[in-house]
Amino acid sequence: MNLISKRFLAASCLNIGLIFTGFGTSASAEEVEVLHWWTSGGEAKSMNVLKQMLEAKGHKWKDFSVAGGSGSNATTVLKSRVIAGNPPSAAQLKKMDLLEWGELDVLSNLDKVASEGKWNQVLPAEVSRAVQQKGKYIAVPVNIHRVNWMWVNPKIFKKAGAKIPSTWDEFFVAAEKIKKAGYVPLAHGGQSWQDATLFEVIAMGVGGADFYRKAFVDLDQKTLNSKKMEEVFTVFRKVRPYLDKGSAGRDWNLATSMVIKGEAAMQIMGDWAKGEFSAANKKPNKDYVCVPAPQTKDMFTYGIDSFAMFSGRADKGQRDFAMSVMDKDFQSVFNAAKGSIPARHDVDISKFDACAKDSKSAFILAEQKKNLVPSMAHGMATPAAAQGAFIDVISQFFNTPKMTVASATKAIAKAAKEAN
Ligand code: GAL
Repeated sequence: MNLISKRFLAASCLNIGLIFTGFGTSASAEEVEVLHWWTSGGEAKSMNVLKQMLEAKGHKWKDFSVAGGSGSNATTVLKSRVIAGNPPSAAQLKKMDLLEWGELDVLSNLDKVASEGKWNQVLPAEVSRAVQQKGKYIAVPVNIHRVNWMWVNPKIFKKAGAKIPSTWDEFFVAAEKIKKAGYVPLAHGGQSWQDATLFEVIAMGVGGADFYRKAFVDLDQKTLNSKKMEEVFTVFRKVRPYLDKGSAGRDWNLATSMVIKGEAAMQIMGDWAKGEFSAANKKPNKDYVCVPAPQTKDMFTYGIDSFAMFSGRADKGQRDFAMSVMDKDFQSVFNAAKGSIPARHDVDISKFDACAKDSKSAFILAEQKKNLVPSMAHGMATPAAAQGAFIDVISQFFNTPKMTVASATKAIAKAAKEAN
């Protein structure tokens, strides 16, 4: 998905010279152009906080939003802007993409602002590692999203006489009852990144953190081509009949709104979904319930959103942008609206809602228990080439009933080998 191919790297290197000569000509020093994919109701509301903050510092915000959940379109658009020699001042990028852009040497070094702001002290180790390359800060972190959440409409559970599941066996019992009661058991958007999100959450629950790490971080052949992986694909397939017919191509926030509106009972999605509940004025433990996805209690698959700056663009604006993102008040207001928890560990979250508080304690506990793992589907774990190949296999399997579990398992292992 977020693939910057080797061929692209080579081509870009030729173009970098052109890019640098082009710097400074198309944007004034005070104009900060920001590429991001935060376009849903909750996301846009959160992003507006940053815009206002930067404008209060005297800069002009130039919005460059590219719709498409998980950045599926934004990264492609970014590539074409860079190739054209006209990168934005700042771009929303996640760890694995950051590293690829960092290799090209086109990102601003943020060490100075990081040392002034004491980033090393105020960021959890996992977060600061996600925005550094070879010990140098190349991006500013905004948040910590927990991916392995399940969003529940409690009224539907009540009407169906079902119990909120904490295991996959319980999930299928509940889903059957909900279906019989006339509701959609699982709201899902059939876009490949959403299929992969569901798949990795099942992998974590069924296989545990070590299995997950070996498969998606180490790309270990034995783990990818294993009986355990077959079990993961088996559960994944079993979930399929509990989606509605309209799921193909649906955006994630529309799936969330099915839970909000009382059409669907559950959605398995990262806590950006909570931003949608909040934007619709819904309250946790009253209108909706957040629980860890089946079999992932005390586990935490994370996504960390961050912004990288392209060298030579609006230097002062970039510096102010980085400082604004790390501002404690900003991290508090933004993350309360976005559904995530602050990237900084010293932000007071006592006024955050119950789901955010659960997320923070799960993060700390998961770190102690070594159950804290980076998300494959959200660009934190797997190099882009392998990630893209994994997502293709996962989605193909989910949408091809005649593809067997054994062949999907072999295909995912083969995909890792070929991408490496
Ligand atoms: C994730 C990102 C979130 C949210 C989501 C849906 O990858 O970390 O901030 O934007 O995609 O677009």
